[in-house]
Amino acid sequence: MANKVDVLLGLQWGDEGKGKVVDVLTPLYDVVARFQGGPNAGHTLEFEGQKYVLRSIPSGIFQGNKVNIIGNGVVLAPDLFMDEARDLERSGHPLRERLHISKKAHLIMPTHRLLDAAYEAAKGKNRVGTTGKGIGPTYTDKVSRNGLRVGDILDNFEQKYAAHKARHETMLRALNYTCYDLTEVEKKWMEGIEYLRQFHLVDSEHEINHYLTEGRSILCEGAQGTMLDVDFGSYPFVTSSNTICAGACTGLGVGPNKIGEVFGIIKAYCTRVGAGPFPTELFDETGQRMRDIGHEYGAVTGRERRCGWIDLVALRYAIMVSGVTQLIMMKSDVLDTFPVIRACTAYRLANGTTTRDFPFDITNVTPVYTDLPGWQQPLTQITSEADFPAALSDYIRFLEHELQTPITIISVGPDREQTIFRHQ
Ligand code: GDP
Ligand code: IMO
Ligand code: MG
Repeated sequence: MANKVDVLLGLQWGDEGKGKVVDVLTPLYDVVARFQGGPNAGHTLEFEGQKYVLRSIPSGIFQGNKVNIIGNGVVLAPDLFMDEARDLERSGHPLRERLHISKKAHLIMPTHRLLDAAYEAAKGKNRVGTTGKGIGPTYTDKVSRNGLRVGDILDNFEQKYAAHKARHETMLRALNYTCYDLTEVEKKWMEGIEYLRQFHLVDSEHEINHYLTEGRSILCEGAQGTMLDVDFGSYPFVTSSNTICAGACTGLGVGPNKIGEVFGIIKAYCTRVGAGPFPTELFDETGQRMRDIGHEYGAVTGRERRCGWIDLVALRYAIMVSGVTQLIMMKSDVLDTFPVIRACTAYRLANGTTTRDFPFDITNVTPVYTDLPGWQQPLTQITSEADFPAALSDYIRFLEHELQTPITIISVGPDREQTIFRHQ
């Protein structure tokens, strides 16, 4: 299918179902690579009656002997990585040979997680509601040229670690965050560093470009979603990396001219975890039904996901900033019982005007909805587009028209098999 680099991205606030789609598409590629984020991600896959949640390991790890790469743009917590990798190995999925880790990926230290908590506490009611995994402080250290990288474990590591830790402790004291005991956590973290040494630690930018020269194909797996992008998301309620297509170029070292298809993953509705604006959020029984039927609870923190209708203003923007070429619609089955499905096509601004363009500030916008009839029949057993209820086909056509982008795959359940490729 692909002869270069295809990129798969979440277009909403994360948890769109990226992990499932990467797993489904992996047989079409030679290599799968993560390019940003870290263990704040929780990518769920289901097949053969088993469920797996991946945090740092790419979702291509289960489909044959494909190379999976953790790229330079990722932030890696050695202790959490060790737990995740050992669980996979125990469940019969070997990964030592097929998982390659960039020496340029940054390490999340235990003190980064403390700083994450300390900054959140200092923000008080303005807190972001982070996953607490140390993501922000680790990327801050990277950008301020204070970071510790995977490649650093190969030489004089203890000394470098101590210097970074001392600097963090000074910062924690300044934030009045002093009640902690790192003894156990640090022990396990260091064990994680030793564990990491058993993997292929690589110059992944060279490796990936070498694969491209050989004519091999690469699927890049995004984490989070466009609305959490540090530049284009609902700032400051965002994560600390670029989750858009350009992030794949910087997070792996591939040129933009190598990018082929850009897959945008969307839910048939919308969810968000953590704080921040969410124009189409539902606080009523309909939102609760989405949460119950869609099992909308965070894969990383177990928090309730906020639920609402699909937001086409935000999606048009997400498609624009990443150059999305195809959409993939997930969790269609969650809407099976809804008599009416609403889609936000525009925002009414505080000054009374209406816009279809995503504005600078979305805190005080009111969604303008188009109502469509629901299909009110179960989708989970459907295997072909020919069997789609008419109302579902109408909903798909409506979205394609509004978003000016084809929807090429429809997901009707969490299992790998519950995936329908549309023939356009
Ligand atoms: P990711 O972070 O984008 O990989 O998504 P998550 O794994 O955090 O959340 C998506 C959730 O929806 C997971 O529990 C998936 O198993 C589940 N899921 C994915 N596709 C579908 C679908 O089409 N229907 C239903 N009902 N669940 C799905
Ligand atoms: P996947 O890859 C949903 C949210 C957090 C918080 C904000 C910042 O599974 O889609 P961070 O810990 O990154 O500093 O938190 O971003 N967040 C996610 N929400 N899915 C994710 O990842 C997320 N990763 C971070 O809830 O609001
Ligand atoms: Mg997730």
